[in-house]
Amino acid sequence: MEKLIVEGGRPLSGEVRISGAKNAALPLIAATLLTAGKHTLRNVPDLRDTRTFFRLMAELGVTSERKGDVVTLDSTNLVHAEASYDLVKTMRASVLVLGPLVARLGRAKVSLPGGCAIGARPINFHIMGLKALGVSCKLENGYVDAERDSPLQGNVIYFDIPSVTATENLLMAAVLAEGTTVLKNAAREPEIGNLVDMLNGMGADIEGKESDKLTIHGVKTLRPADCEIIPDRIEAGTYLIAIAATGGSGTVTHCNPAHLPSLLEKLRAAGLTVTETEDTVTVGWPEGINSFTKRLQSVDIKTMPYPGYPTDLQAQFMTLMAIGSGVSMINETIFENRFMHVAELKRMGADIKVDGHNAVVTGKGIQGLSGAPVMATDLRASSSLVIAGLAASGRTEITRIYHLERGYEDLVGKLTGLGATVWKEQEQEVVRKS
Ligand code: EPU
Repeated sequence: MEKLIVEGGRPLSGEVRISGAKNAALPLIAATLLTAGKHTLRNVPDLRDTRTFFRLMAELGVTSERKGDVVTLDSTNLVHAEASYDLVKTMRASVLVLGPLVARLGRAKVSLPGGCAIGARPINFHIMGLKALGVSCKLENGYVDAERDSPLQGNVIYFDIPSVTATENLLMAAVLAEGTTVLKNAAREPEIGNLVDMLNGMGADIEGKESDKLTIHGVKTLRPADCEIIPDRIEAGTYLIAIAATGGSGTVTHCNPAHLPSLLEKLRAAGLTVTETEDTVTVGWPEGINSFTKRLQSVDIKTMPYPGYPTDLQAQFMTLMAIGSGVSMINETIFENRFMHVAELKRMGADIKVDGHNAVVTGKGIQGLSGAPVMATDLRASSSLVIAGLAASGRTEITRIYHLERGYEDLVGKLTGLGATVWKEQEQEVVRKS
């Protein structure tokens, strides 16, 4: 296994190009299951998770070919309607094949994902919604066995909590249903808007994009897709926080600043200058590194469904607050176990107390962190450790970096381009003798 070495204490500067969004790419790839033909997806990030999803698609019978960031998929010959435990356990988003498979083939069998490092993450909303459309769902031997013996029937579906992938799964199921489906209290994340655009481009009839009420008038047929994946707002946010935490000044390009409303306001509140164009964001300190040493303010965050502050940027912001000048309260409302990075940040000198869903971060000032060996526990927790390593004095070694590779394309290359000293090394195998 590889580990990541970060030599900290250097301000980042320059430009970094943002890739296509992982969490948009996955549902868009799944949506190609809805109709036979050759589909084209553009701006597709090359990540461990997208590669896993293409492997899952290949098991179902969908071939794919990548040329640069353009992927063509041929979904003409679906041969299989099952997502096995082996794949689902490595990537929960595999559950996204449930809706489109049952819509097109009438049947789908998908392994239940089970728990995950950040929380229990049940899929009861997905199942409740499919049942409302007329699907019979049995849970047997660790699998959801979903079947319909007549066309899906439109219905009104209300989510107790807005769920991103449940909204996506039910959108994909409902586009081919008879009649109209209304999804109420639906999630409003930009990735769902990207899916709505793709489905409407395929001939679907969906109203209410980016609102919490989606109305889907079922259609009889769809045509193959040609769609571009939106920029990854979480990757963009991660680099902005990394630049801020090193006292640097830099620009993320090829992004959509409108998708980062809460983070940009929090960075301004923390004392940074933030300037936006249509597709770039530049952050920096008003008087350069000198003002960084004086000005990094502590601010509170509360994670919320979009357009609130994203849970996927909570760990990274906590690292920034660990070197702030006061006390910050971080309230995680989406996932019950998303503070796994706290223990690792404490090993680097952070002062953080966790009480249930709240973390109280007492900023230690910009000299407050020192490099240490730490372990990555999930994707976003890992990126908070990279930021901590960049801001800390000395060397940080991060193990289990396969988590990072799930969601950050060319992390080492992009950080190096911003002036960081960071590289991968093979971990030494320790052979114990008894
Ligand atoms: N929930 C239920 N029942 C369900 C579905 C969700 O109780 O059937 C609860 C969850 O336990 C959670 C809340 O609803 O408390 C919201 O979860 P949601 O379903 O929105 O999460 P998700 O769809 O499983 C996606 C992203 C996550 C991101 C969350 C929240 C994808 C592939 N994954 O997950 O991304 O954290 O939305 O924004 O889109 C990541 O990229 O690192 C990541 C974890």
